[in-house]
Amino acid sequence: MKLMIINGPNLNLLGKREPEVYGSTTFEDYFNQLREKFSQVELEYYQSNIEGELIGKIQEVGFDYDGIILNAAAYTHTSVGIGDAVKAVETPVIEVHISNTHQREEYRHVSYISPGAKGVILGFGLQSYNLAIQSFLG
Ligand code: DQA
Repeated sequence: MKLMIINGPNLNLLGKREPEVYGSTTFEDYFNQLREKFSQVELEYYQSNIEGELIGKIQEVGFDYDGIILNAAAYTHTSVGIGDAVKAVETPVIEVHISNTHQREEYRHVSYISPGAKGVILGFGLQSYNLAIQSFLG
């Protein structure tokens, strides 16, 4: 089982960025915990602040990996291109968000990712990623 976690813009600042919304753990620390917990899974992680790089990574792994766990962050609410990439690839994509975007500003209520996603998990803090991995394990 090969899974790729892809994080979009500003998620490299997890731990420092608005900790009241996103918590105080860095993604690197959390990712190491996930790797230990799911040692049977080949788990990889990619982060970029650049829309085209995110599209490139989705295309690169999207015909090969068993699953993509995608937090497109702010691009969720703006990017037709990332939404199209999710629809274009064969690998199922789970959309995740740390916060419950529906409890936040109205512009965060729209997702260009959801129409192409296999499922959506949001609002469970970093545990949203854990739940997404579980969903691939059945
Ligand atoms: C986010 C929610 C987005 O609205 C926001 O732009 C992010 C993070 C989340 O994980 O809660 O950067 O995707």
